[in-house]
Amino acid sequence: MTGTLDIALPKGRLGEKVLALLSSAGAGGPQPDAHSRRLVLESHDGALRFFWVKPADVPIYVARGAADLGVAGRDVLLEHGAEVYELLDLGLGRCRMCVAGRPGALSRGGTLRVATKFPNIATRHFQSRGREIDIIKLNGSIELAPLLGLADVIVDIVETGTTLRENGLAVLEEILPVSARLVANKASFRFKHAQLSGLVDRLSAALEGAN
Ligand code: PRP
Repeated sequence: MTGTLDIALPKGRLGEKVLALLSSAGAGGPQPDAHSRRLVLESHDGALRFFWVKPADVPIYVARGAADLGVAGRDVLLEHGAEVYELLDLGLGRCRMCVAGRPGALSRGGTLRVATKFPNIATRHFQSRGREIDIIKLNGSIELAPLLGLADVIVDIVETGTTLRENGLAVLEEILPVSARLVANKASFRFKHAQLSGLVDRLSAALEGAN
């Protein structure tokens, strides 16, 4: 017996790339309509249903079983500590989680003020270095914090490096490489195993074909 697979996709460019990948894997993903505000889409054959959610919320939908599958960046998964199974590295949205700031910012003594959207990743990183920090949790435009003296350094995603460069900042340490992962709800993995593996196989083949 087969049922619908519910998939939480991150709203925005990454989610659209995932839909394109599903399409090339023959998973019949519909093309998103840029003007539509619909949050739920169905594949042509009705086998897949997609939800658009905020990228940081994907692990919540999947871990709690509101979606069988989801696509989330490794950054989001590590920050959230989500209880999900990681099935596949989709290789999309490649970037690096880094410590950045003005050159020399790490060598100042005392407690380091760290601005970030990723307090757990930042805390673990500096703990492993034995460095005392004060986390300043922000929700965006993190690069402003060292410019305005709100923080000494930031922990953030670096993709092209343009935002850092244009704001006079530099990568001081690399923490980890990031890319988008396909993740599964643990119960769905057990009870919908055949459907999930079928989709993973098709996606793997499409990724190999693309590389
Ligand atoms: C992300 C990230 C950096 C920027 C890095 O911000 O937080 O600011 O992209 O990309 P780059 O290395 O290619 O310049 P996002 O665009 O998500 O906006 P935000 O400031 O709202 O977090």
